[in-house]
Amino acid sequence: MGSQLQEQRDAQAIDHPEYVEHEGLKAWVADIAALCKPADVHWCDGSQEEYDWLCEMMVESGTFIRLNPEKRPNSFLAFSDPSDVARVEDRTYICSLREQEAGPTNNWMDPEEMKGTLEPLFDGSMRGRTLFVIPFSMGPIGSPLSIIGVEITDSPYVVANMRIMTRMGRAAVEALGADGEFVPSVHSVGAPLEPGEEDVPWPCNPDVKYIVHFPEDRSIWSYGSGYGGNALLGKKCLALRIASVIARDEGWLAEHMVIMGIESPDGEKTYVSAAFPSACGKTNLAMLIPPKGLDDWKVTTVGDDIAWIRKGEDGKLYAINPEAGFFGVAPGTSYQSNPNAMETIRANCIFTNAALTPDGDVWWEGMDGEPPAEALDWRRQKWTPADDRPAAHPNARFTAPASQCPSIDPDWEDPKGVPISAFIFGARRSNVVPLVYEAFNWSFGVYTAATMGSEMTAAAFGTVGKVRRDPFAMLPFSGYHMADYFNHWLQFGSRLPDPPRIYQVNWFRKDELGNWLWPGFGQNMRVLKWIVDRVHGRASATESPLGWMPSYTDMEWEGLDTVPPATFNGLMSVDRDMWKDELLLHEELFIKIYDRLPREFMLMRELILSGLWRSPEKWNLKDWPEE
Ligand code: OXD
Ligand code: MN
Repeated sequence: MGSQLQEQRDAQAIDHPEYVEHEGLKAWVADIAALCKPADVHWCDGSQEEYDWLCEMMVESGTFIRLNPEKRPNSFLAFSDPSDVARVEDRTYICSLREQEAGPTNNWMDPEEMKGTLEPLFDGSMRGRTLFVIPFSMGPIGSPLSIIGVEITDSPYVVANMRIMTRMGRAAVEALGADGEFVPSVHSVGAPLEPGEEDVPWPCNPDVKYIVHFPEDRSIWSYGSGYGGNALLGKKCLALRIASVIARDEGWLAEHMVIMGIESPDGEKTYVSAAFPSACGKTNLAMLIPPKGLDDWKVTTVGDDIAWIRKGEDGKLYAINPEAGFFGVAPGTSYQSNPNAMETIRANCIFTNAALTPDGDVWWEGMDGEPPAEALDWRRQKWTPADDRPAAHPNARFTAPASQCPSIDPDWEDPKGVPISAFIFGARRSNVVPLVYEAFNWSFGVYTAATMGSEMTAAAFGTVGKVRRDPFAMLPFSGYHMADYFNHWLQFGSRLPDPPRIYQVNWFRKDELGNWLWPGFGQNMRVLKWIVDRVHGRASATESPLGWMPSYTDMEWEGLDTVPPATFNGLMSVDRDMWKDELLLHEELFIKIYDRLPREFMLMRELILSGLWRSPEKWNLKDWPEE
């Protein structure tokens, strides 16, 4: 690597590139460098040469394994430290000036105290490493809806991932100009190198981790982890936690939602935005391929994780995807579950904690075909299918450029966003919650989203299978008091001349024997079609105790014969006893955040309860017309 390129890097390390005009940015970088004491400083320009250089460097250091270029061109695999495999919610803090602003569902510490805790940790934390400056734009460069951030990190793995996940480098600095605003974000893996000390492939701090947000300063500090949302600070930290605070103050929405286009056979395009907690198949939904019987419909992808939504001058809602890539859960992704994702990840990707096959490709549980006869598992140990542990970590990820997705929407980078006609909220529930219903109105929809709960999986800490209340799928991501967030949604809707309708869905319902009632995946298109038809006033619905529901004949069934009317009724039924328990769980959440809870929530809960009492004990669509 004694190349000309390296010399350029060394020269740059002394000073910023000439295109950086922002005095505040230069001063901030100098301050952080003085604190963290790196061996050198590198300003990222975002070029392909820089990316290739970093990847090569990581191959040499053992952080990256270059995959077989014939199988997976220009792609790499990283294995993390076993202590660093997921977001760390219990180490994530919202340090607002006042504790009440963060609310009881966030960890809080006094900002001065937190700064006092962080300073000694960051002091010298980059010794022996390169400090990278990553200017990035969340949202298309130059869009009035975009926000610029600058991440300082000592992890080349983070730089490479940020180049896929955001618009990163020189263009972002130029968009910032001489006096633009940016969100300062500091990240260190917390593993300084002593002189002569050999590095490890995945440096991190196994004992101390802090993911900290200062909402008033609009700044982010992350220490000790190199993984995903802990370290790629544009994603959960900026685009959700900090952006949710900015959105509250400025009157827009920063949401944990996919954005997708649904095109009817005659070319009518309807965009919807949908929120699901982690690991509920969001990426699969965003890239859905309509099934047989509905194959003249088309789904396009604008985003798979985050939506920023504002009211346009015409009173309609417009959404952008602030990200430029997908950081998707790999296990379970296959040509059967998500062909578009499989095509997206054919080249130019980074895989983390997948298994390595003997022919130099990646593999994970749930991939098509037979498992390989042997592999190197994510802990770098030899693995065979006879072993009773997974080869890939359940939270293994791919980082892939969105532009490579075959279903990417032609307008996915439109700076003004795409118009949103409906909101969908879903969670993983094996019982209680029906396949789909439409909230009675905006306020009921907000109540429905606010009381969502999901059975837990591996992406976050918790007991697998237990229901965790996850309002709007935003519990780990709201940068302020959750009840204020509900109030913000209520107020936001009241300012819309014609607010989009709000839907609840549940793809995961099971029968008493534990069999899935709904085939899911591409078949979810049938539910989306009903929603789109409702939006355009074409589909009828029946009033249930929870909201408006399709009856069997309101749905399109051509091409699917595994869901007869009896199964459909099982999917849609509402069990009073179970709902009584469910409402008590709503109450548990409400009591927790009672100080700022919207008053109408109590009334809505009462209305749902009285609706349940005035309906048959086991309400279902078949019984209803005969009542
Ligand atoms: C994600 C998450 O990684 O929600 O998107 O955990
Ligand atoms: Mn997510």
